Parts: sequence; structure tokens; C-alpha cells
Amino acid sequence: MMRRKLILGNWKMYKTSSQARSDFLRLGELTKQFSSTIDIGVAAASTHLAPMAECAPAHLGLLAQNCHWEKEGAFTGEVSSEMLRDLSVQGSLVAHSERRQFFGESNLSAGKRVRALLDAGLDAVYCVGETLSQREAGELKKVLTKQLLEAFDAAGNGFSSLLIGSDPTRPRFSIAYEPVWAIGTGKAANAIEAQEAHAFVREVLTERFGAQAASRLRILYGGSVKPANIAEFLKCPDVDGALVGGASLKPEEFAELCSKVTKF
Ligand code: PGA
Repeated sequence: MMRRKLILGNWKMYKTSSQARSDFLRLGELTKQFSSTIDIGVAAASTHLAPMAECAPAHLGLLAQNCHWEKEGAFTGEVSSEMLRDLSVQGSLVAHSERRQFFGESNLSAGKRVRALLDAGLDAVYCVGETLSQREAGELKKVLTKQLLEAFDAAGNGFSSLLIGSDPTRPRFSIAYEPVWAIGTGKAANAIEAQEAHAFVREVLTERFGAQAASRLRILYGGSVKPANIAEFLKCPDVDGALVGGASLKPEEFAELCSKVTKF
């Protein structure tokens, strides 16, 4: 099954909202020509979402970096799926490793966030990945299994029926495999390591949701992806795109990276 490639930029806590707006527009101009072959989006800080949504180029997805599981309530500092939907934001990252590391994100809270997004008809990109010490202790598969299954359990009954949504070529749910030791370090995983982890994630998805759903869901690689190394990841059969931090910040560099993806 051919999966449409998905490239997401993660702008983290960078840019002012006016910079984010103008960079988004510029990225739109530079990538328009790729829009028939690949899906491209950007996950931006909450303050940037409204101004970016107002000018969003039609072919670019706009995502948040986090989303609470309740529709509203006394949850200071959080935003809800309703608030995102109201701005025409397409979805959100969930449980990025920086959320896990610095803000106490757990597999349980992540699963609830994913569920709220899918229930609202939005996209959820669930981030998983091992630390260096876990990898060195041979715990890669154990860590990934726990991150995936605990979140799926927390997402509750009927979760599997929400994974794909109305367009099977653009499933609502995606996984980003991001080895923590490769994020922002300049030390990307190699293609063999990435493929091994991605194939394992797909195995877990197959066991849980069946072969058909698992063959449609997109698994992105993240961690020091740049124009110079994106091709080696995309050669891997189970790598369906990338979540890109540093190399997504400059529209020219990110567009160059996207142009390489159209070759696959
Ligand atoms: P990086 O970040 O590309 O700068 O390593 C990736 C991410 O955090 O999603």
C-alpha cells in the first residue's frame, strides 16, 4: 500500500507570531508545486495559530503542539480541541519528547489527548521514542510497546474506528518515531535503526488495529532530519515522512527538504 508522504515542521517555542505568519506564507509559495504529491504542515506555538490560520496557504496543514483532552474547564495553560477547531487548526502533536521530559506528559495523558483530537475530527500525531540509555540497555521494543499500548488503552473504546477518518489517503492518526538522543543533537539515527523501529511500530499497530489500518497509518521519523539526510530515511519502506525541528525553521531550507521528498 502506497502511503502519501507527510512532512511536518515543528517550530517549537520559536518565532514571534508575525514571523510565524510571514514564514508560513513564504513556505506556502515555495512548496505549492509539491502539494499534489506530498502532504506538508507546520506545528506552531498556540499564540501563532490564529494569525497563521488567517493566512494559511491552502496546501499547508497547521497544527498545534499540544491539546487538552477536555473541551473546556479549569485547566490553566492548556488549549482544547474545540479551541483549535474553532481556528481551523487541523490537529496537534501529542506527547513530543520535550513534553514528556519537561512537562510530565505520560502515555496515559497522551492517549486522552489523542482521543479528544480524533473525536473532534482533528489530526493527532503521537510521538514516541527511546532515550539513549534505554536503547543501550536493549529496551527499544519494550519502551515503544509501552508508549503505544498504554496510550491506546487510555484512548478508550472505539478508538480504532477513528484512526483513518474520511480520507484514507490522509489518515487522522499518525505516529512520529523520534529517538530522544537524535532530537536537536545533530546525531540522527541511521536508516537501519529507523527502519527497524518503524517496522516494529507497524507490527504493534497491526496487532492492535489489524493489517488494513496499520498499512494505511503513517509513521514519521524525527530527530536531526535535514535536506542532506531526508532521502536515506525515505528509502526505508516503513518511513512515511518526517517530523522536522531545526531544519523546518527557515522556509527555504524546509522547502528544499520537501522537494527531496517528492522524489519518493
Ligand atoms: P530536530 O527536532 O529536527 O531539531 O532534531 C525534531 C523534533 O523535535 O521534532
